[in-house]
Amino acid sequence: MKITVIGTGYVGLVTGAVFSDWGNDVYCLDIDTNKLNEIKKGNMPIYEVGLKEVVLKNLENGNFKVTSDYALAVDHAEIILICVGTPSNQSGAADLSFVYKVAEQIGQNRKKDDYQVIVCKSTVPVGTNNEVRDIILQNTTNHNFDVLSNPEFLREGSAVYDANHLDRVVIGSDSKKALDTMAQIYEHLDTKIVKTDLASAELIKYASNAFLATKITFINEIAQICEKVGANVKDVSLGMGLDTRIGNKFLNAGIGFGGSCFPKDVEALHKTSSENLYDFKLLRGVLDANEDQRIFFTKKIFSKFGENLSGKTIGILGAAFKKDTDDVRKSVSVAIIKDLRGAGAKVKLYDPIALENAKHELGELSIEYSADHKDAFTNVDAVAILTEWDEFKEYDYVSLSTTMRNKVIFDGRNILDKSLMQNNGFEYYGVGV
Ligand code: UGA
Repeated sequence: MKITVIGTGYVGLVTGAVFSDWGNDVYCLDIDTNKLNEIKKGNMPIYEVGLKEVVLKNLENGNFKVTSDYALAVDHAEIILICVGTPSNQSGAADLSFVYKVAEQIGQNRKKDDYQVIVCKSTVPVGTNNEVRDIILQNTTNHNFDVLSNPEFLREGSAVYDANHLDRVVIGSDSKKALDTMAQIYEHLDTKIVKTDLASAELIKYASNAFLATKITFINEIAQICEKVGANVKDVSLGMGLDTRIGNKFLNAGIGFGGSCFPKDVEALHKTSSENLYDFKLLRGVLDANEDQRIFFTKKIFSKFGENLSGKTIGILGAAFKKDTDDVRKSVSVAIIKDLRGAGAKVKLYDPIALENAKHELGELSIEYSADHKDAFTNVDAVAILTEWDEFKEYDYVSLSTTMRNKVIFDGRNILDKSLMQNNGFEYYGVGV
């Protein structure tokens, strides 16, 4: 199929690359021509496992092309996907200005009367697709199109894999023709395609993310109880997760959820509820408890060293909001580093790939960026593990500890074995263990 993807961020670039890899003829459009030139050279603007290989392969065979030319890209497509950002605005609602701008451009550039499906892949509040349709209608006399919602469920870090192994595809539209056209893209996959109306598709995305965020928050609150009653949250999670109705995924207690999706989407769904005169109490609780979870962890460090950390140096492992990504947006690690710095501590920060992004977010004040993980163990009063990178599980902590001032580990992701660490002479603080 002839497809145009607008926006080359996480969602757009991965979607465009994967769709081209499935044999479609894809144009990816972005207004940032520098970014496009880098993509053409094989330099990806984001770190995503396997993405570069897929892009290079399909640039070469001609299935994947980039452009900043709206007229060309709109004219090309049977299906146009809107994949631009929807950041939170000050009130917590999704800022839809980028989506609306793209809708305007699509309308203005629709020249032929061929049928097109305009798809919103960006996460947008219920009702947005109707507004997208209205904006396109206001900007073109050519009305032979339908809008469709096709939310994406890819996880950063494993997005290319996820795109090829979808649990389900959700497509929503009031038009059967649009649903049937869109379904063709996914029909070769062995996955269930849920066809529904626009509002339900839009809501499925928010409900899914909010549910997963709630699941994480639930286990985080159980971790708090574990500490009070002397239970171990890892065992509680294991015991709960084996119930197939519950499942073991997203039941790892830690420092709270972060990233560009969960915090924003929970906030936005809460806002949608309020606007529709429904008080979604559970979601407010999730947001509050998630904030508390970070504070609960930081307080462990304060309990050990006092609330004035001047003169103390803390080694930090991990800046990314989760493993396998260089993304630090709404990373709880970054927030904890700010807490520690605010209390007067110096920080030595190591992350396998997110250091550059962390530097943009945190600056140089009181932070030493360590290119080698060993530096984060050298002359520090404690080490805190804040991202669950696999390599952190493999370190030889005993030999690394020889350069530490104290053998103190704060494990915000529960990736180490408490008894083993204690047997090796460490003072070990996990979350709910
Ligand atoms: C999330 C969803 O998982 C995707 O399905 C969705 O497509 C995406 O948002 C989106 O809306 O675009 P993502 O933000 O990439 O994906 O990351 P997750 O793997 O869901 O992790 C989110 C946060 O929860 C991270 O901070 C992670 O460390 C934390 N988490 C996750 C936990 O604290 N415990 C867990 O057990 C799982």
